[in-house]
Amino acid sequence: MEPSAWGIDAGRSRWARSCFSDASWIVPGGSIGNLSALVAATTIAAPALADQALATAKNCMACHAVDKKLVGPAYNDVAVKYKGDAKAHAALEGKVKKGGAGVWGQVPMPPNPQVPDADIKTMVTYVLGLKK
Ligand code: HEC
Repeated sequence: MEPSAWGIDAGRSRWARSCFSDASWIVPGGSIGNLSALVAATTIAAPALADQALATAKNCMACHAVDKKLVGPAYNDVAVKYKGDAKAHAALEGKVKKGGAGVWGQVPMPPNPQVPDADIKTMVTYVLGLKK
């Protein structure tokens, strides 16, 4: 939906305030327009945010945050730990897929077999790129 359609919708919903059934379809249409504008802005302006959105969608952010330890280590700390380690990328892809414990503590990361390899690659690249 074009941003200009917004103005029209807002006008219509004001107009339709006296007619409840009309207003109820205009409001969901309006919020879809708003969401796609937000997604487009995120993708263009900040790729790192898109990667974090992927990690959120794959449930990684339930246990991880970028800048603080939750159940698992902060992604910033992971990036620092493996800085300059050429083997880290492949090792971490395997670790995220199969899970494991003992690097950051005794709490294990469960395996994530439902996450496609390409998405794991994208997220490991993102995590390792956080601290240069
Ligand atoms: C249930 C909680 C949980 C979820 C969900 C989770 N992790 Fe983890 N993650 C952990 C824990 C705990 C560790 C520390 C494991 C260790 O000490 O070896 C960890 C470690 C890591 C590491 C560092 C591994 C290492 O050996 O240094 C990376 C990278 C990582 N997670 C990425 C991810 C990604 C990407 C996802 C989503 C697909 C994810 N995690 C989902 C808990 C979780």
